[in-house]
Amino acid sequence: MKPLRIGLAGLGTVGIGVIRLLRENAESITARAGRPIEVVAVTARDPKKDRGEDLSSLRWYSNAAEVARDPNIDVVVELIGGSEGAAREMVEIGLSRGLPVVTANKALVALHSETLTKLSSEHNAPLLYEAAVAGGIPAVKLTREGLAPDRLISVGGILNGTCNYILTAMRESGRDFSDILSEAQEKGYAEADPSTDIDGWDTAHKLAILAGIAFSPIVFDSLPVLGIRDVQGIDLQFADELGYRIKLLGMARSKETGKIEAWVRPCLVPEKAPIASVDDVFNAVTTLGTFSGPMTISGRGAGEGPTANAVVADLIDIARGNELPIWGKKHSGPAIRCLPLTEVE
Ligand code: NAP
Ligand code: HSE
Repeated sequence: MKPLRIGLAGLGTVGIGVIRLLRENAESITARAGRPIEVVAVTARDPKKDRGEDLSSLRWYSNAAEVARDPNIDVVVELIGGSEGAAREMVEIGLSRGLPVVTANKALVALHSETLTKLSSEHNAPLLYEAAVAGGIPAVKLTREGLAPDRLISVGGILNGTCNYILTAMRESGRDFSDILSEAQEKGYAEADPSTDIDGWDTAHKLAILAGIAFSPIVFDSLPVLGIRDVQGIDLQFADELGYRIKLLGMARSKETGKIEAWVRPCLVPEKAPIASVDDVFNAVTTLGTFSGPMTISGRGAGEGPTANAVVADLIDIARGNELPIWGKKHSGPAIRCLPLTEVE
């Protein structure tokens, strides 16, 4: 059986998780994929760092572009992060070569959808990004495939594990915001720049991706975004007394007029609502469809294991030769602006 050969950049929380999962579950993954999936070429900033896995048999490159240009790989996997620089270059090289590209990078996918659509379409190169939205929850597959027959009215939910972890711990223990954020960073939940999480941008990136699949691509700059930086212990206490929880939500709704209203902000959620009890690092993806009705799926939204699982699920789809999404075939037409908050009902 010819293995699927992976060139991978980024050996942090997610990258090492992918290597560990491919090794620990090699037998069952090979059975499900129909052939072995092997990481053969890698790079990271510091080649000398001990990462707790033996990487000595892999081809090491000095940068991500070289990994993407390796003639002996079948798939490019980008797990560096950041919407520019090495991550963007690697993804663009991979797509331009006509190779399938897998990424967990929501900022890159949300902010450069037009360029990536064009490259993916021109070179017939699939771009897969299940790990970019809601960690271990198969949110992209659910929206793109599971709900494909339906006309969705809304999509969104709790899309950032770090913020939900902070809000939960503040409510339960009354501890300080910055202490809990440091804990989330130690656990590998937060972005390299954690203001991306707490100021709502990470939720916005994920929401833009889901809305783009469910409705139309949206102009990212038109999305109103408010994070949790100003939420205080007293706000959470008052919410409790009134029978609510405070959650950072990102929601997008399609109006009958064809317009899209979308926003990211901390919300009061009635304690009986299914998402009110989604705590800790868990995320919840909620959809409302005309035929499928309301749906809520929850699961771990960040961290090594769930995110690695989502990356490897994409790799299994590639290895099996499943029909893969070529951007541009569905995402045609220019991005549309979200309704301003003043017009949101
Ligand atoms: P991380 O732990 O900070 O790891 C980043 C890795 O990229 C490190 O190995 C780093 O090398 C390497 N790197 C940084 N700059 C590089 C460059 N210019 N060239 C090559 N390698 C470079 O980040 P992470 O948490 O794994 O996140 C990776 C991606 O997954 C991000 O897009 C993130 O948004 C996304 N994601 C993360 C999670 C999560 O729970 N952590 C969940 C879903 C999606 P060194 O190790 O040598 O510094
Ligand atoms: N920083 C992100 C979060 C990682 O906390 O949700 C998962 O996308």
